[in-house]
Amino acid sequence: MPQPAVLTGLGAYLPPRRVSNEELADRFDTTDEWITSRTGIRTRRWADPGISTSDLAVEAGHRALKSAGLVPEPGAVDLVVLATTTPDHPCPATAPDVAARLGLGAPGAFDISAVCSGFLYALDTASNAILAGRARSVLVIGAETYSTILNPQDRTTSVIFGDGAGAAVLTAGEEGQTGAFQGFDLGSDGQQKDLICIPAGGSRQRSQGTAPAPGDEFFTMRGREVFLSAVQRMTESSQSLLDRLGWSTDSVGHLVGHQANSRILRAVAEQLGVPAERAVVNLDQVGNTSAASIPLALADAAADGRLVPGERLLLTAFGGGLTWGSAALTWPDIVPA
Ligand code: UT7
Repeated sequence: MPQPAVLTGLGAYLPPRRVSNEELADRFDTTDEWITSRTGIRTRRWADPGISTSDLAVEAGHRALKSAGLVPEPGAVDLVVLATTTPDHPCPATAPDVAARLGLGAPGAFDISAVCSGFLYALDTASNAILAGRARSVLVIGAETYSTILNPQDRTTSVIFGDGAGAAVLTAGEEGQTGAFQGFDLGSDGQQKDLICIPAGGSRQRSQGTAPAPGDEFFTMRGREVFLSAVQRMTESSQSLLDRLGWSTDSVGHLVGHQANSRILRAVAEQLGVPAERAVVNLDQVGNTSAASIPLALADAAADGRLVPGERLLLTAFGGGLTWGSAALTWPDIVPA
């Protein structure tokens, strides 16, 4: 009998350095008023020099294991799946290093590259491994150090993104158990790959045999086009999952969307018919943390008691690729660390 994946632990970690809109207004041709009104972001965290994605991932992973009541030791989990846009290196993946530093022995460990949708892709992968009986416990991490890929000449992206990591433990459980994942919806459109891109550093650029153009090593985004697609895809993906599960919008306790822009979150909630107070927003404090965004938002909402055990949660995200996805679960009775 297949056993569903159940969320049994959640952890979050933010690097200590806060970067306010005011600080960015000293460095870029921008204002607190522009950033707040266009994005909803007031502050974000950036990692100190020398800190990389694996450092944040290890912290968040530790906390998630603790929240799940697991001791970080060999055999504690069967798989470590790390979603990131900012791996420590192009090769090898960052997950094996994180697993080793957590003292988890020799679990399967790999990265998932789906930009801001990465955490939902990773949850789906973990859930499928459990459903197939290939794993009993999986550590899923979303971790980013976007501050390392932002172009210091680009005010638009530099004011949006923040660093951070969130992690979840998924364990084989029982049908109907609170915390059980109920379904996923994933999608992509590679024809729009140029909307969000780091042009240099991969085989496409290296195969040209010439040095990359200045700035091509940095993250680029065509914001306006991404905005419209993000609203459309997150709404459609969410609705399609709700329809498949037979869940009415009214039955959803909270909508936890990828924290890209408060105007996007408002538009998605409105189009789905979810009241604004049931849409979780924490981007004002952390900015857009890409693959870490969903677990950080969940941890935030759980920490202040907004999420009630047993309530239905709808998660939805959108990112480069283009990629998007949604997940449905009931909220478990856990204390995030
Ligand atoms: O996480 C993955 C998915 N990402 C997203 O979903 C992000 C989606 N996009 C967005 O959130 C928004 O498009 C942005 C926040 C990136 C930009 O907001 P916008 O309202 O779409 O602004 P815009 O790009 O259309 O630019 C409007 C104006 C421009 O000036 P002109 O041409 O109207 O004179 C920009 O040059 O705002 C200017 N601008 C800025 N002004 C002050 C752009 N960035 C800034 C800035 N400070 N930081």
